[in-house]
Amino acid sequence: MSESISQTAKVNLQGNEIELPLIIGTEDEVGIDISSLRSNTGAVTLDVGYKNTGSTTSNITFLDGEKGVLRHRGYAIEELAEKADFLEVAYLLIYGELPTETEFNQWDHDIRRHTLVNEDMENIFKAWPTGSHPMGQLIAMISSLSSFYPESLNPNISEEDRSRTIRRLLAKMPTICSMIHKKRIGHPLIYPQNNLNYVENYLNMTFKHVTEDYELDPVFVSAMNKLLILHADHEQNCSASTVRLVGSSHANLYASISAGVAALWGPLHGGANQKVIEMLEAIKADGGNASKYIEKAKDKDDPFRLMGFGHRVYKNFDPRAKIIKKSADDVLNKLGINDPTLEIAKKLEEAALSDEYFIERKLFPNVDFYSGIIYRAMGFPVEMFTVLFALGRLPGWIAQWKEMMDNRQPIGRPRQIYTGPAIRPYVDLDKR
Ligand SMILES: CC(C)(COP(=O)(O)OP(=O)(O)OC[C@H]1O[C@@H](n2cnc3c(N)ncnc32)[C@H](O)[C@@H]1OP(=O)(O)O)[C@@H](O)C(=O)NCCC(=O)NCCS
Repeated sequence: MSESISQTAKVNLQGNEIELPLIIGTEDEVGIDISSLRSNTGAVTLDVGYKNTGSTTSNITFLDGEKGVLRHRGYAIEELAEKADFLEVAYLLIYGELPTETEFNQWDHDIRRHTLVNEDMENIFKAWPTGSHPMGQLIAMISSLSSFYPESLNPNISEEDRSRTIRRLLAKMPTICSMIHKKRIGHPLIYPQNNLNYVENYLNMTFKHVTEDYELDPVFVSAMNKLLILHADHEQNCSASTVRLVGSSHANLYASISAGVAALWGPLHGGANQKVIEMLEAIKADGGNASKYIEKAKDKDDPFRLMGFGHRVYKNFDPRAKIIKKSADDVLNKLGINDPTLEIAKKLEEAALSDEYFIERKLFPNVDFYSGIIYRAMGFPVEMFTVLFALGRLPGWIAQWKEMMDNRQPIGRPRQIYTGPAIRPYVDLDKR
């Protein structure tokens, strides 16, 4: 860890001046360490939505929202997306370094050997009504792994068991995601095949039919690999923070990750990728007038928001959106698909980027804006889009959980400023 205490911040608190140490990160980010604030002064900080709060130091991901920079363990996202295999990035995130060839072969082999899920897991689907949302199913399926592998419940799990738990989860995630898809469309499941790599296996389990041969399209495989890498981690966002918070109570890895999936589901987070396509479809059905919807997004009396625009931390551009936009063009061109929603997306982007409202508020297309168009071109139903986000984000969540556990971080438990009624006497029911 490169941070060192170099300076202090002085806070004048009701006449008392106190000094708080500064923590300086690798890229000179400055944090005021307030961990002694309450014990020294009785005061806490208040930061609703954590817009100014660093919840941890971390060695995993660096993000500069002003400059549009995203790096994992020092490697630029652009380079990883261009050159790496998704499982290499997963290893990098979880273990801190790119694997050597031997390490990679072992990692890849271990993951291929754990792809089957217990046959009893299929029974869980019997309980769900047809058409229930895949994200709700994913939450339950991941969490249910703790029932099949109870050694994961032990917070003092051996290193060997923990390692196996991590590999198991990574290996079973594509199987579970494809099961959800197959059950949804009422088709028989396709089993994993150990001769296929992670991305190929997932696409094969999703798109192959038992009745027919399926040929993997290298354009799909490459686009999917890139998409998964682009989603792999994003430091202390809503779902990663959830994973850390749940994990900090020493809940098992499966429960912690399933909580992260629940956080991702929301339309303000990963659920936005589904909402983007629904929005583009609605605009298309309404005549394709992008300007009308730009005006709606600006109108404070209209609840409409441009889905896929804006980001809590990127205030310049989302580097992932740039790569995905190009990828969307490539996939559609190669497949010869002419998707009118892509045209609407481009019109919206152009209109928003030249509009004062969006410029002033630094609202740019985010990762979800173009990813849905590629997913749809590949044949994924729109309800599966957030599941795909979760599949990509899994290594990041595992890395965040592992770092939190390895650093023996205390249970996460924020404070509050109470603003409710002061003490008052109980009034009997007949007197209220
Ligand atoms: C991502 C998001 C939740 C970030 O929220 P935030 O950091 O809390 O920012 P705020 O909601 O405070 O927005 C700041 C301003 O921009 C406006 N704004 C933010 N996103 C907007 C959008 N997508 N469309 C229209 N206006 C938007 C807000 O109304 C607010 O305007 P005001 O200052 O006049 O009140 C938000 O931009 C959003 O809802 N985007 C759409 C959902 C989405 O794509 N999420 C995926 C994120 S990867």
